[in-house]
Amino acid sequence: MGVTTPRYALHALIAPALTNAIQRPTISARCYRLPFTFCLLPFAFEKDVPMPRRAREDEPDHTSPPLDVVIQGDCVDVLCTLPDASVNVIFADPPYNLQLRNTLLRPNQTIVDGVDDEWDQFSDFADYDAFTRAWLHECRRVLRDDGTIWVIGSYHNIFRVGAMMLDLGYWVLNDVIWHKTNPMPNFRGTRFQNATETLIWAKKSADQQRYTFNYHAMKHLNNDKQMPNVWHIPLCTGPERIKVNGKKAHSTQKPEALLYRVLLASSNPHDVVLDPFFGSGTTGAVAKRLRRHYIGIELETEYITIARQRIDELSATPGDDAALITPSKRSAPRVHFGQLIESQYIQIGQPLYSRQRDVVATVKADSQLRWGEHAGSIHNIAALAQGKSACNGWEYWYYEDEAGNLISIDRLREQYRSQHLIAEQDVRAASDG
Ligand SMILES: C[S@@+](CC[C@H](N)C(=O)[O-])C[C@H]1O[C@@H](n2cnc3c(N)ncnc32)[C@H](O)[C@@H]1O
Repeated sequence: MGVTTPRYALHALIAPALTNAIQRPTISARCYRLPFTFCLLPFAFEKDVPMPRRAREDEPDHTSPPLDVVIQGDCVDVLCTLPDASVNVIFADPPYNLQLRNTLLRPNQTIVDGVDDEWDQFSDFADYDAFTRAWLHECRRVLRDDGTIWVIGSYHNIFRVGAMMLDLGYWVLNDVIWHKTNPMPNFRGTRFQNATETLIWAKKSADQQRYTFNYHAMKHLNNDKQMPNVWHIPLCTGPERIKVNGKKAHSTQKPEALLYRVLLASSNPHDVVLDPFFGSGTTGAVAKRLRRHYIGIELETEYITIARQRIDELSATPGDDAALITPSKRSAPRVHFGQLIESQYIQIGQPLYSRQRDVVATVKADSQLRWGEHAGSIHNIAALAQGKSACNGWEYWYYEDEAGNLISIDRLREQYRSQHLIAEQDVRAASDG
């Protein structure tokens, strides 16, 4: 790639001033190419879409970015042409800077197909750091104030990337460990098998109040248990792995399952997802499946061709947006436990159980529970029974169905909502109309 330290080190200092001078050219809706020159001379192949200009520091650029495109160029150059605060979420899978010194052989003397691509070569750590700082700086500018960024890396680079993110003002929300369930062995047997990569999920600053986290979608995806930060997902193999002439088309193609979780967790339908290291287009493919817009940036022509073809071949996901959304319980209409009794979803005197059946309380007509000599709300009695100061009773109590199975009272609340409150909304909508 021939990256040099001064190039990226200077970027933060002079890019804003230089880019103010850029004329606004036009670009192809599918792809445009930028030369490797500090955003000085963006060049148009086809004249379809106006290319946004880097905003002046004193005059924020609020134009819209081009959507559902793969932009060819160095990501720092391209990023500095995108408008301020214009993307909802960023997924970045940057060069790892693997620094492979020797050819790696399997025990049968065949060569391991590792990451030795030119785009992964940096002259030293300082070189890599200057590059990392430059793209992370621009990503922070183009990210909306309620947006978040994901950066994935291995032990070779993720610690440097993480430190840089904190220096630039990002605030880490989680580190997610991707546990590869089918990792490559350590052929030499000199270290542990390397079975993980780390994703840093961060917001723009410590003060940022709002960001998208589809908590309940993640919980449902995890068999109705809170999604932990360790994700067990296989490497991309089999039919999903794109091949050209029988060889891997891209050395580091990520599994779609990983991007599926990332995008479902942190974005909503029609949001804009930016990937500054697009590679084989995994982010774009999953964005299309989940009906998000994407902007991909990639240096290499061959990867762009593969990515475009991959995304074009995907048919649109059928159905409406409701299939892609998990309404947050916080925004759902409020239902009180008493409403379940009034509507006979729960009966007076009915026993309610803890998950292990070791606590049993009975329902009173006034919606309180009776437990021994105590009476109180579903929340108070649940807390009391566990010796806690507070507890969400909707998640603690179960009733027994006719077959003797324990069912969460939260399920009844959902049924009540869908049968009563949705119907009420329909009536209101009909009378309004
Ligand atoms: C780790 S791979 C990303 C793989 C991708 N996530 C996928 O699933 O296919 C990094 C990609 O970034 C590209 N790249 C490296 N340096 C770049 C730069 N300065 N600007 C834009 N793309 C770059 C490489 O060509 C490579 O395709």
